[in-house]
Amino acid sequence: MSKLLNCLKNKDFSCVPIWFMRQAGRYLPEFKQLRSQNPDFLKLCLNSDLASEITLQPMKRFNLDAAIIFSDILVIPYALGQPIEFGKKNGPRNLKLNINKFLEINEKNFLSTLQPIYKAINKTKSALSKDKSLIAFVGAPWTLMIYLYNFKEKNKFDKKITIKNKNEIKSVFKKLDEFLKIHIINQKQAGADIIQIFDSWAGLIKDDDLNEYCYKPNESLVNFCKENQIPSICFPKGLKENYKNFLEKVKPDAVNIDYDIDPLWAKKNFGNICIQGGMNPDILLKDEKIALQETEKYLEIFKNIPYIFNLGHGILPETNPTIIKKIVDRVNIIKR
Ligand code: CP3
Repeated sequence: MSKLLNCLKNKDFSCVPIWFMRQAGRYLPEFKQLRSQNPDFLKLCLNSDLASEITLQPMKRFNLDAAIIFSDILVIPYALGQPIEFGKKNGPRNLKLNINKFLEINEKNFLSTLQPIYKAINKTKSALSKDKSLIAFVGAPWTLMIYLYNFKEKNKFDKKITIKNKNEIKSVFKKLDEFLKIHIINQKQAGADIIQIFDSWAGLIKDDDLNEYCYKPNESLVNFCKENQIPSICFPKGLKENYKNFLEKVKPDAVNIDYDIDPLWAKKNFGNICIQGGMNPDILLKDEKIALQETEKYLEIFKNIPYIFNLGHGILPETNPTIIKKIVDRVNIIKR
């Protein structure tokens, strides 16, 4: 069994598996070169050969325990009939949600759009050695909704969001729940070993709405993963002390903590769960010595619980790959 699956399933902490959120793309020169020849980002996600090649790029450079398939959380609204426009720097913008089209798309059309992703997963899985895992992912409904309704553009200061059109949101969440599950099972059948559920904007949910818009939808996806024997890792970014309530309700196999979470508090309060990540990606932009010291800090705190080394959010585009290599080599020395 791979190191990562052994940690997730058997809660074995004799090793610390390592991978990085957003390890494929963004900061790697070989990705930037490929990207410059492929101006349409979604087309690149839906090109099986190139998506597989990009997924494997960090695996060739570093001794990581998992690959994460090169794709995006926004392939779901795209496959539900919504054109997606990516801005130069800050990503998806200006979505014009066509609610009728969104709610009408059937499984057959949805799957025919996403077929290249499953092909890329299949191809990548065959290229990986047995000791490596392949992670596939989905965005949680709330985070997808943030983009569907352009909340990021309207909400520059990251204030908590008041939902007004509750009935429409209810049907959007229902559709997403159904089709995210279809995407999860198809990714599993194509060869994915683990599903990570990104709720990157969970921090914008009002406390009174957390149950409805965060805990319940994540729980529904996690339960679906359990029914289908695929381990799940949740990332409800920005929940602060509500991380604890999230875990009591949702019960995934592992949780990725963000950089606002005190690792000591997490260790003390999260019970018998595998913890992933935590280190602030900004630190990788600083002095190498500081980054390695911070790496030691996380390794020390989590030394006697199942821990997957990762960050508190994705690798930033300005990161120098050399520092990633140093961290990977440091973490890989561990065999307790
Ligand atoms: O982790 C990986 O390396 C796999 C690939 C991956 C991408 N997006 C590729 C990508 C994954 C796991 C994602 C998830 C994703 N996408 C999330 C959740 C994780 C997070 O970081 O919070 C979110 C919120 C998105 C939406 C999205 N897609 C944004 C906000 C952007 C623009 C800014 C950016 O780079 O994050 C994208 C575009 C995107 N997705 C790029 C890549 C490599 C950059 C595309 C480019 O080259 O212009």
